[in-house]
Amino acid sequence: MSERAAHILDEVRKYHQDSDGGRGFVPGVTEIWPSGAVLDEEDRAALVEAALDMRIAAGKSSRRFESAFARRMERRKAHLTNSGSSANLLAVTALTSHQLGDHRLMPGDEVITVAAGFPTTVNPILQNGLVPVFVDIDLRTYNTTVERVEKAIGPRTRAIMIAHALGNPFEVAEVAELAEERDLLLIEDTCDAVGTTYKGRLAGTFGDLTTVSFYPAHHLTMGEGGCVLTSNLVLARIVESLRDWGRDCWCEPGESDTCRKRFGYQMGTLPAGYDHKYIFSHVGYNLKATDLQAALGLTQLDKLDEFCAARRRNWRRLREGLADVPWLLLPEPTPGSDPSWFGFIITVDPEAPFRRAELVDFLENRKIGTRRLFAGNLTRHPAYADRDFRISGELTNSDLVTEHTFWVGVYPGLTEEMIDYVIASITEFVEDNR
Ligand SMILES: Cc1ncc(COP(=O)(O)O)c(C=O)c1O
Repeated sequence: MSERAAHILDEVRKYHQDSDGGRGFVPGVTEIWPSGAVLDEEDRAALVEAALDMRIAAGKSSRRFESAFARRMERRKAHLTNSGSSANLLAVTALTSHQLGDHRLMPGDEVITVAAGFPTTVNPILQNGLVPVFVDIDLRTYNTTVERVEKAIGPRTRAIMIAHALGNPFEVAEVAELAEERDLLLIEDTCDAVGTTYKGRLAGTFGDLTTVSFYPAHHLTMGEGGCVLTSNLVLARIVESLRDWGRDCWCEPGESDTCRKRFGYQMGTLPAGYDHKYIFSHVGYNLKATDLQAALGLTQLDKLDEFCAARRRNWRRLREGLADVPWLLLPEPTPGSDPSWFGFIITVDPEAPFRRAELVDFLENRKIGTRRLFAGNLTRHPAYADRDFRISGELTNSDLVTEHTFWVGVYPGLTEEMIDYVIASITEFVEDNR
């Protein structure tokens, strides 16, 4: 690094220190966000350094991030994308690749998924002409169960795609075992659960493919960004091809002839020797991220353990502080798990003398941010009204969370003082309305 660049980065760190200080917590005035990015001077300097180098497309930081993150997530390959939704699109689309032969998913095949969650866990199923089969969730863990998944399997079921709910893992070891027995493919949407473990093993290491989001609400951020991870090298190549326009070639930008036979292929009905850089083996997209994003991801990754510890600490403080408050159904970790929580989810007892909306209004008026379990029951949204899907069993709990459930934040930017104010506010509201 040149002396001038080092000087600029020093100034950037000072700028960060100057602009970051002096904002004390004022109850009822300071916003308590449900989620948000925690960015320090190293993050700011990393972004500026990438900008100084004009690394505006995907390049060396992207590759460094992919290998560091794959190691951290205990998968052989990671492919950076521009969002978690794009990662989900790539993961599902990869399962339809002709390169999987008889294992590929065909239009009309079914994918089992959960009704209450985030839309882009489900949308890629529809976008690929596949049929979602919705199952219900349990209250308290907000995940489905292996029994529900098993019951949902029909003659055309070929895959399972489930998100770990707000950081709490589903019974992923048992679901993976079921998938293996019944020859189904498994995608773990780990967008909200980086660092979570189930039975001592990292969430995201059980399925064929795993996806992560780096939007600011998530455990690590790049602003926008996401990742597809797998230890299956065939799937990894397919994901890369689909992400990068569908091309067959795997040279990095700016590279040529890493396979040493750039002009030695004959594919499709193309003339022999057609430039491999421009041979397309998939109907692909361009869903790449940039080095600006990856540079931020790298400095964020250094803090992942700290971030996960803070999320667990904040969640525990809320759980203990609210334990004796009546009329609230508090969350439980899935047995055998150690969740790296995304939020603290609460269901107001339907028999309570107050309604969820009243409690939420009270909290929002105190600048305590709340969120829903994303879409609640997705099948009730206009987007899915005329879509082809199947429902297995009843969606009773999905409907219940659509009415009675919300969550508050646990992200590392929250202080003990803020968490205590959230506890005191919820307690006060319930005491005054019981
Ligand atoms: C479970 C889940 N999957 C996918 C996504 C989509 O991620 P992104 O916002 O990066 O597209 C989210 C977003 O919060 C999510 O919560």
